[in-house]
Amino acid sequence: MTLGKQKRPLIIGHRGAKGEAPENTLASFALAVEQGANALELDIHLTVDGEIVVCHDPLINRTTNGEGAIANLTAAELKSLDAGGWFDPRYAGERIPLLEEVLAAVPAGVMLNIEVKCPYSGRLQERLVELLERYDRLGSVVLSSFHHKVLLALKQANPRLQVGLLYRGNFVQHRKIAEISGMEVYALHPYFTMVDAEDVADAVEHGYKIFSFTVNDPEQMRRVAELGVTGIGTDFPARLKEVLDSMN
Ligand code: G3P
Ligand code: MG
Repeated sequence: MTLGKQKRPLIIGHRGAKGEAPENTLASFALAVEQGANALELDIHLTVDGEIVVCHDPLINRTTNGEGAIANLTAAELKSLDAGGWFDPRYAGERIPLLEEVLAAVPAGVMLNIEVKCPYSGRLQERLVELLERYDRLGSVVLSSFHHKVLLALKQANPRLQVGLLYRGNFVQHRKIAEISGMEVYALHPYFTMVDAEDVADAVEHGYKIFSFTVNDPEQMRRVAELGVTGIGTDFPARLKEVLDSMN
């Protein structure tokens, strides 16, 4: 099987290299890049003192040695926790990263897909834009969310932000989700089983990027790559790279 006329999709490291390192840590992001990821997906929340941190769940219980809600804790309190030992003792000492630390650490050529997991607030928007401007990332970040109203509020507050709609449903015409969203949408992020070649071609023809998530099985990686998507999210970037290399 080859990619034929389709462009090689971006390898998007989901929470870094979630399958092989503690998710959403600097170690996980570094591993994903080392394995060939062209883009990284990460999840963000706002702390009680207005800092943006990188963590999937609203609670820290599953992925750190602490307990509680990020929204009730300060950045300093969160930074004192171990975010790696739960995954493997050799990662003990990894910390919950601030978004700023990720922006400072990730090479400029690696695209970032920042998934907003917290509610909209003016503070979130201001801090986000301040950081993306400071690290010259407005053009190489897509902000995604399952909460499209959060994206709408961000986009209304700052039209320069690139936003992408996450969703799991199946639709007759996927791009219509973008068209009814009330905002200029940069990308669609469908669950990978929910799109076919026609949906993808239609969306791409109308100028949308298609970032499909989260594909870990090599056969499915091949199938999704052949659809012509712009990028594929995976917990195993090295595995996806091997599959794509075999299709060239
Ligand atoms: O961006 C794709 C994926 O991250 C969405 O789901 O729960 O892994 O954040 P989740
Ligand atoms: Mg996510």
